[in-house]
Amino acid sequence: MRLATRFFASHSGVVALSLCIVFFLAYGGVRRIYQQQARLHQVQQLSDFTLAAKESMIQHEDVAVLNFMRSALKNPDLACAAYYNPATGVRLVLPENLQKGFFPAAEGGPESPVLRLLPDGERLVQWTSAVGSPDGMPGRVWLAYSQSALERELGEQTKVWAQLGLEAGAAALVIGLLLSLGLGRQLAAPLRKIRDGTHLVRSGKLDSLVEVRRKDEIGDLARDFNAMVTQLKELDEMKRDFISGVTHDLGTPLHAIRSAINFLQAGDAGPLTEKQSEYLLMVSNSTANLTSFINNLLTTARIEAAKVDPYPEPVDVHAHVKELVDLYRPQAAEKGLKLTLTRKSNYLSLVADVTMFRQIVLNLLSNALKFTPRGEVEILLSEEDGNFVLEVRDTGIGIDPSHQRLVFDKFYRVHQSSGSPARQGSGLGLTIVKGLAEAHGGRITVESALGAGSTFKVVLPKQPARF
Ligand SMILES: Nc1ncnc2c1ncn2[C@@H]1O[C@H](COP(=O)(O)OP(=O)(O)O)[C@@H](O)[C@H]1O
Ligand SMILES: [Mg+2]
Repeated sequence: MRLATRFFASHSGVVALSLCIVFFLAYGGVRRIYQQQARLHQVQQLSDFTLAAKESMIQHEDVAVLNFMRSALKNPDLACAAYYNPATGVRLVLPENLQKGFFPAAEGGPESPVLRLLPDGERLVQWTSAVGSPDGMPGRVWLAYSQSALERELGEQTKVWAQLGLEAGAAALVIGLLLSLGLGRQLAAPLRKIRDGTHLVRSGKLDSLVEVRRKDEIGDLARDFNAMVTQLKELDEMKRDFISGVTHDLGTPLHAIRSAINFLQAGDAGPLTEKQSEYLLMVSNSTANLTSFINNLLTTARIEAAKVDPYPEPVDVHAHVKELVDLYRPQAAEKGLKLTLTRKSNYLSLVADVTMFRQIVLNLLSNALKFTPRGEVEILLSEEDGNFVLEVRDTGIGIDPSHQRLVFDKFYRVHQSSGSPARQGSGLGLTIVKGLAEAHGGRITVESALGAGSTFKVVLPKQPARF
């Protein structure tokens, strides 16, 4: 999951959760307030009822209490009101249809209402209170509220708050999500810049400084990154200067050694014994290796300094490649490898620097032979989308995907156990192939799997645009 997405997801989760908690707390609070109000109202009504009953008992007539009951019952929450006067034996229950079913018990007081269940299943909250009388026979009044009606009213009253809460919550959620989206992007953007910078540095572009002007830890990271890149660039320049200096300095004495060897081998300094010839051959081979290494270093230095200057001319690709393949046939035969050259079209045209083209083929071919213990090496020449294509396929050791991009780096060799073929190279071959292909406006790609062989594919424009 990307950083911005992860931040957005967790942030919106927190926002939604806090909103839910706040909503339920607020809703619960509002409900409690309304419940308390209703309770206060019921207590007040009971005390008014008690007063009316007392009045009736003093006056020995029930009109006052009956009137009170009738008007009280206009409140839809009140399911029943009852009155009992022991002095006269008057027992009043309203509404009248409840007279049979409702036989009020004397439980509960003004402080603690009790729950009653009527035969028809209706639940009532019953309040009762004794009514003091001057003749010492206390009466009693009852008020019973319908619980479902009370609930309904409570629901009505809190509905508007719930609605309001939901609307405010939705608005807060949207704002929260937008904020977290913005914040996530703001956090991820500079990191993305640093990542892109890292990729550029990774591909060798050492002047890729990132522009992040922030005063927080991300800003610190960007500044450290820039300082690191600057240092790397300085080091790289130092290394390049050093290598090119040393290489040039080695060239002259090597040339002298080479001439001396030629001189000796030609017998110009007198006849050589068999042993002397043998040693001289070893010196000659080692000198050739050293010369080729130095030439590779020089080519790499030129590629890095963008000083490769191809001399374009029409290339008889098949003839050149065949010549190189023939050169390597004995080596292939010695390892028991099948070496084939196939051209997919009879006429292949290419305008390129012949020496560089040969160097590309030579490096790929020598790698294929070097890293293939058994099986075959195949070279394919073809055209694709108006470009010239050279493919070198082998059934060799292959390259792990994690190394495939790196093999084109200077001095990079896939680490293998000692004595294995990779130990014998300098790690410059593919760097040179890539540099030369790119100098022609072309490219190189590799497809490979460990143990299943590799295919290196070079695509060159048949006629480079800038020539
Ligand atoms: N055909 C191939 N099969 C397997 N590995 C290869 C092949 N070609 C190149 N490699 C890997 O890429 C590395 C770099 O190749 P290269 O630049 O030619 O250097 P060198 O040949 O001097 O080792 C090699 O050391 C090897 O690990
Ligand atoms: Mg090589």
